[in-house]
Formats: sequence, C-alpha cells, structure tokens
Amino acid sequence: MAKIKNIDLGEFPLLLAPMEDVSDPPFRKLCKEYGADVVYTEFISSEGLIRDAKKSTQKLDIYENERPVGIQIFGHNLESMLRTVEIVAASKPDFIDINFGCPVKKVVSKGAGAAILKDVPKMVSLSEAMVKHTDLPITVKTRLGWDHDSIRIIEVAERLQDVGIAAIAIHGRTRAQMYKGDAVWEPIADVKNNPRMHIPVFANGDINTPEKAKLIRDEFGLDGAMIGRASIGNPWFFNEVKHFLQTGAHLAKPNIEERVKVAKRHVEMATAWNGDIVGVLETRRHYANYFKAIPNFKEYRMKLVTAPSKEVVFQVLNQILDQFSHL
Ligand SMILES: Cc1cc2nc3c(=O)[nH]c(=O)nc-3n(C[C@H](O)[C@H](O)[C@H](O)COP(=O)(O)O)c2cc1C
Repeated sequence: MAKIKNIDLGEFPLLLAPMEDVSDPPFRKLCKEYGADVVYTEFISSEGLIRDAKKSTQKLDIYENERPVGIQIFGHNLESMLRTVEIVAASKPDFIDINFGCPVKKVVSKGAGAAILKDVPKMVSLSEAMVKHTDLPITVKTRLGWDHDSIRIIEVAERLQDVGIAAIAIHGRTRAQMYKGDAVWEPIADVKNNPRMHIPVFANGDINTPEKAKLIRDEFGLDGAMIGRASIGNPWFFNEVKHFLQTGAHLAKPNIEERVKVAKRHVEMATAWNGDIVGVLETRRHYANYFKAIPNFKEYRMKLVTAPSKEVVFQVLNQILDQFSHL
C-alpha cells in the first residue's frame, strides 16, 4: 500500500503527472473519473504567486472530488518558496510537490526546476525548510540528474527522505536529455532498492502502454506509475492500465460516442471554470487530441481548433459523431 504520509493511495497508484497548460482542473477531473488515483496541478511559479499574478493564482483552484491532489510549485529563492508554501496551503491541497525537474531554459536559467540538481545541498536545505514550514506533506518530482556524468539520484533521494520529503517521483531522464531518447527505469528501481528508502518512489517517463506500467510494478518493483503524455486526449488510459494490471486483458478503446461525450464534458467544464471565451481557447489543445488516429479527420480538427464558441464546438462534435460513429 503506497502512502504519502497518512494519505492512502492504494496498491500501485496511477498518478497524473503535472503538465503545464494540460493538467488544469477540468482535465484532472476527467482523469480522476477515468481511474487516476492521484493528480497534480500544473507547476506554479513561486515568484508569480507571490506577486499575485492571475495566471499563477488561478492554478490554485482545486475541485473537492479530485482529491488527493498535489499543488506543484517551482522556484529557487528560500524566502519566496516559504511564502509560497503559506499561500498554497491556504488552498488546502492534500500535499505540495516541489518541481526539481523542469528542464526548460526560462526556469533553469533562474536556478529553479532541474537546475537545482547541480546544487544538491541547496535542494536538500530548501526541501527541509519547506517541510518544517507546513503540516502538509511535501513531495518532490525530479529527474535522474543534471547530465549522465553527474547522476547521484540514490543519494539525492535518500537525503530528501531524511529531511522529511514524503514521496518522490522520478522522471527517468537527465536534464541534458530533455525529452530525447528513451526514459530508463533501472536507476529509479535502484533508488527504491536502497534498503534505507522507506518513502514511496514513483516512476515517470514513457509509461504509455499498460504493459509498461506492469513492468514498472512487477519487474522494477516501484510504488506507482506517474503518467503524463499518454493521458493527453486520452483520460481513459488510467482505466486501461488498471484493467490490464488486474486481469492481463486489454480494455476496448473508447468509441466515437464516448470520445464525443467526454470532449463535450471537457469543454463544458472548461467554460464553467474559465468563462466562455478563455474556456474554449484553452481547451483547443485538448479536444483535437480526443480524435487522434482517426483517418481523414483533418477538416474536423481544423474546425475544432478554430471554433469561436462552445456552441460551435458542440456543433462540430455532433458532426463528428454523425460522420465517424461507424468506426
Ligand atoms: C506539455 C507538458 C507540460 C509539462 N509540465 C510539467 C510541469 O508543469 N511540471 C512538471 O513537473 N513536469 C511537467 N512536464 C513533465 C511531465 O510531468 C513528465 O515528467 C514528462 O512528460 C515525462 O512523462 P511522460 O513520458 O509520461 O509524459 C510536462 C510535460 C509536458 C509534455
């Protein structure tokens, strides 16, 4: 049984990875309904939050029925991070996750995200200070290391555990790799196999088939699978994985009716959360994904990503239903 402090996550939980512009409340809610056990918000800039930047504060919204939910933050400055913990705690997430893994230049150049992997003492002291600053569990999401030659993830994870981090999710790539090459899970298993390790160790990176999730559980012995890109436009993936883990059989893929139904719900929730205009704009990257791999779909994809209002999105979705329901 995996636990983040006293939050029970069940056997081998499936976690929706934090993803900027993707894991917003409507998408998290859908993933939750379709089998995700734990969800994370998109990362939130500590400096943005302190300045009360609207983009950052809005990311604090959580729905009651998506729990357990972790709010993820990133930053590099101790004072700002502590203030951020206070602001975030007021939104009552189940835990706070620190992003020590983001590889993008605009984050790394300020010393945040994966940059902290170059300064492990700072990573540890920042984590310790945050743990001491709140009663909420603090977790970490990170990568294997800065680059191949500086991987010290076993020691890093142990030191984070020793200062009170409640769980660690590890993306099986270095910062230098960005998203290139295949993620490797062996070094994550090495972290778990450290006899001193007792907090949950979650694997992340390229878990995009039920078979890979089973490997993570059975061969690598990890405590859970964190799933990112495989869930985009495909919230059903969590149930597919669960079904496979339980039975060894594959669930049927969702048919067009189901996809249209969920895309409609997504737009509905997004507009309720963000207003009609922003809701439709922000959902564009999602609903086209619901129909990936459908032949001759280009015309409808164009219509979806240019539809100016919820009503027009619904009309297009109805046309999709008429046109493709035989598939
Ligand atoms: C669009 C996108 C946005 C992301 N945003 C975040 C983020 O806000 N915080 C974070 O820790 N990782 C972020 N990531 C990384 C993912 O959480 C995950 O570590 C990575 O995609 C590897 O997992 P996957 O192969 O299952 O997608 C993002 C990834 C993508 C594709």
